[in-house]
Amino acid sequence: MRVDHAVRGIGKTSLLREGERVMRAARIRTVWVTANPDESLARAILAKLPAAAGAEPSRAKAIAELVESATLSLGVPGIVTAEVGVKRRNATVPASAAEAFKASVIATTQAIKDDGGTGLAIFVDEIQSADRESLRVIAYAWQELASERPGTPAGIFAAGLPNSAEAIASAVTFAERFDYRALPTLEDKDVALALVTPAQEADVQWAPTALRLGVGSARGFPYKVQLIGHEAWTAAGWPDRGGIIDEAHVRTGLTAAEEQMRELFRARWGAATRAEREVLRAIARLGGHDVKREDLAGALGTSTRAISGPRARLLQKGIIEATRFGYVSFSVPGFAEYILETEAE
Ligand SMILES: Nc1ncnc2c1ncn2[C@@H]1O[C@H](COP(=O)(O)OP(=O)(O)O)[C@@H](O)[C@H]1O
Ligand SMILES: [Mg+2]
Repeated sequence: MRVDHAVRGIGKTSLLREGERVMRAARIRTVWVTANPDESLARAILAKLPAAAGAEPSRAKAIAELVESATLSLGVPGIVTAEVGVKRRNATVPASAAEAFKASVIATTQAIKDDGGTGLAIFVDEIQSADRESLRVIAYAWQELASERPGTPAGIFAAGLPNSAEAIASAVTFAERFDYRALPTLEDKDVALALVTPAQEADVQWAPTALRLGVGSARGFPYKVQLIGHEAWTAAGWPDRGGIIDEAHVRTGLTAAEEQMRELFRARWGAATRAEREVLRAIARLGGHDVKREDLAGALGTSTRAISGPRARLLQKGIIEATRFGYVSFSVPGFAEYILETEAE
């Protein structure tokens, strides 16, 4: 079970979609689910297994039955928690639910193999929003599956916000089956490739100065690479074969790209409470990157304890990230400049 985590706009969904293409090319059947707090993730996965298993009638019937019994053993998210009304951190999973989930996965994988496929890949996007019961059921099922049948060609590939590991750990006490990986921002050479390759396919070149400007402005953030590429292309008038994207096009494109980034920042700032804004402002003044907790408290004239509430909420919202222990950074480049500019107005 792999979990890739990063802030919004880093390319997690794109990465999973690419994984889906790669798996399909290897005749691995895929299931895709986007987790959300109002739906049972385990149920949503179960509901998609029969279609992945193939159409052979007796197999289809057997899998439909397994899936149904697994589904029945699961609670309805929200309702159960509301009824119980207590922290369910250490609640045990009905072993039957995990057993039934595991049985459904094994039967599906077997049916896929008999149907000419090579395995099963389950993709879960936005895993930080998954309901706790599902996380427990899936983790137990996978643990059992891995120890009982280590060679089973089935995998779960998940992606989510930086708080994914925390969200999973709060539901599952043993989470060593999860293989976490933080997605880094892009290196400049990869940003250059992302800009140049699609243009080359249309026989359009980026002038070297234009490329330098575009790469420098993206600062490794894929969402911005996307904006810059699109806006420069538009500024160049959707060039024909043999066309050139020059520095002036990129400059014009950057103005449009920056405006869209400002919209993102406006929304984030608008949704922040007063206490959060004070913390954001202080982070911005301290440079926006790798700001030490003590320095932040110092700048606000208070204790590290006093800022822990707003700090936790900003982390939760994905506006800041804990780049290393005791340090925070803005998750999107340019936010510090935005805050300082807006303040100066
Ligand atoms: N490797 C990449 N290079 C360039 N642009 C990318 C890359 N990965 C993603 N993008 C673009 O960045 C934006 C955000 O990607 P997305 O996968 O939706 O991110 P996330 O799921 O992390 O929020 C999209 O417009 C996508 O096309
Ligand atoms: Mg996404």
